[in-house]
Amino acid sequence: MPSLKVLALFSLTLLSQALATTIPETDYDAIVIGGGPAGLSATSGLSRVRRRTLMLDSGVYRNDPTRHMHDVIGNDGTVPAVFRYLARQQISRYNATTTMKNATVISVESINNGSYYKATDSEGLEYTARRIVLATGMKDILPDTPGVKEGWGKGIYWCPWCDGYEHRDQAFGILGNLSDAMGSVIEVWQLNEDIIAFVNGTNTPEQQQALAVKYPNWQAQLEAYNVSINNETIVSIDRLQDGSTDNDPAEDREFDLFRVNLADGSSIERGAFITNFPDAQYSNIPQELDLQMNGTKIAVSTNMKSNDTGVYAIGDINNDGATNVPHAMFSGKRAAVYIHVELGRQESLAAIGKRELSDKEREKEARRLVGSDLDELWKRVQEMKK
Ligand SMILES: Cc1cc2nc3c(=O)[nH]c(=O)nc-3n(C[C@H](O)[C@H](O)[C@H](O)COP(=O)(O)OP(=O)(O)OC[C@H]3O[C@@H](n4cnc5c(N)ncnc54)[C@H](O)[C@@H]3O)c2cc1C
Ligand SMILES: *[C@@H]1O[C@H](CO)[C@@H](O)[C@H](O)[C@H]1NC(C)=O
Ligand SMILES: *[C@@H]1O[C@H](CO)[C@@H](O)[C@H](O)[C@H]1NC(C)=O
Ligand SMILES: *[C@@H]1O[C@H](CO)[C@@H](O)[C@H](O)[C@H]1NC(C)=O
Ligand SMILES: *[C@@H]1O[C@H](CO)[C@@H](O)[C@H](O)[C@H]1NC(C)=O
Ligand SMILES: *[C@@H]1O[C@H](CO)[C@@H](O)[C@H](O)[C@H]1NC(C)=O
Ligand SMILES: *[C@@H]1O[C@H](CO)[C@@H](O)[C@H](O)[C@H]1NC(C)=O
Ligand SMILES: *[C@@H]1O[C@H](CO)[C@@H](O)[C@H](O)[C@H]1NC(C)=O
Ligand SMILES: *[C@@H]1O[C@H](CO)[C@@H](O)[C@H](O)[C@H]1NC(C)=O
Ligand SMILES: *[C@@H]1O[C@H](CO)[C@@H](O)[C@H](O)[C@H]1NC(C)=O
Repeated sequence: MPSLKVLALFSLTLLSQALATTIPETDYDAIVIGGGPAGLSATSGLSRVRRRTLMLDSGVYRNDPTRHMHDVIGNDGTVPAVFRYLARQQISRYNATTTMKNATVISVESINNGSYYKATDSEGLEYTARRIVLATGMKDILPDTPGVKEGWGKGIYWCPWCDGYEHRDQAFGILGNLSDAMGSVIEVWQLNEDIIAFVNGTNTPEQQQALAVKYPNWQAQLEAYNVSINNETIVSIDRLQDGSTDNDPAEDREFDLFRVNLADGSSIERGAFITNFPDAQYSNIPQELDLQMNGTKIAVSTNMKSNDTGVYAIGDINNDGATNVPHAMFSGKRAAVYIHVELGRQESLAAIGKRELSDKEREKEARRLVGSDLDELWKRVQEMKK
């Protein structure tokens, strides 16, 4: 009965396919959410090995307010928007497999326990992929004191590597809680000597205790660096001079000038400030995916994988301890490599049509399921494969 034999053979083939690793059908291999340096780096890494990649970017970049990006080798002093533009231009060469879209993702859903994911944008468009790379960035929570937002990234700076050198040797201020002031002094004392910590009413016993935990001799240390503490409430910060136009590019100097107006009616002039303001995840997608957190950051393994097996977190949002452009690029690259290899492994098993079972094991499994002696047919299947 050849027809029956053919039927049985066909069933067995189907069976071995069912047992095999199956790759879910998705629009993309990976979706990268966010087009800052982290997302661009991951997109580049995935594109270069022809992974079908979609990058979705809502265009709100953390370092957008700054004049120039610093301490990114080869791009020290580049305008951040120019840097991102160049990255997009270069990545667009891989447009056969990679798409970049300006869109805001409003939800990401894990399907079938992380077998694949579905992202939905604000237009209601849906995209599926086997891996999600979150590169959604952090946002700075700035106090509403007049002048702070206006000066942000332009003299009122976030990190010494970002803008410290351009404001070296100028009269300098530290904004933020007393408990954070000593850490800032340690970061900037090579750059500025005349330093005032404007602690805005936080010179309280609680803050002093918190500071003493980190720096038991903080008072003596501040004195040694000639740092004075001003505890007056800050009413406003006026800009007197703008380093965007008043600068010396040859010497890398920006001459911003501010006047701090205090509640007691006094005012003090400063050239620049470093800040210690709180930050938070920009996107609520990490929360919606119920990812494991560490403080405000997403907890990741060394491969940038979150505790949801197909979701990676790169750049400022993860807890590997760094928040800068080189780290964003490193972590994006690392996730891209890991995802490519991880998907590749899955595909290689699918290509030879099995799970991590040997031929013998698979035969046994097939027999168990079919419940009849198919030795003869099995041999023929093996013959056909040759
Ligand atoms: C004022 C300032 C100046 C700085 N200067 C420097 C510097 O000179 N050198 C340096 O190394 N570092 C600097 N930094 C730090 C640097 O900005 C960050 O480390 C870097 O931006 C982190 O990159 P990222 O890709 O993780 O996040 P981001 O650059 O913030 O990018 C996040 C991206 O995710 C997108 N996004 C978020 N949610 C969604 C969503 N739901 N859908 C689609 N897209 C979404 C955003 O639109 C954005 O494109 C500075 C920071 C500040 C605040
Ligand atoms: C997408 O955003 C980038 C960067 O913000 C911008 O340069 C580009 O013009 C935008 N593209 C479209 C089609 O709006
Ligand atoms: C893809 O890139 C090539 C080479 O840069 C370019 O010629 C082509 O127009 C691009 N296609 C699309 C759809 O953008
Ligand atoms: C879901 O996936 C995780 C990680 O791959 C696995 O440990 C877990 O057993 C799975 N749960 C179910 C119900 O399949
Ligand atoms: C200063 O403290 C006041 C009152 O607590 C607060 O409203 C304001 O945002 C703070 N400003 C700065 C610059 O820290
Ligand atoms: C010490 O700080 C005060 C203001 O706080 C400033 O007037 C003085 O010049 C500083 N001294 C040195 C050596 O920088
Ligand atoms: C600093 O200001 C706060 C708020 O006004 C006040 O409670 C505190 O006692 C002040 N600290 C000192 C040392 O004066
Ligand atoms: C500063 O201290 C206040 C309480 O006094 C706290 O609410 C706030 O989170 C602190 N800011 C930072 C950046 O730690
Ligand atoms: C990840 O961690 C969070 C918080 O601990 C937990 O609620 C969630 O179930 C975890 N997710 C997975 C897929 O294990
Ligand atoms: C949180 O991150 C810190 C610093 O990276 C680390 O020391 C700590 O062990 C982490 N905690 C958890 C619960 O992962």
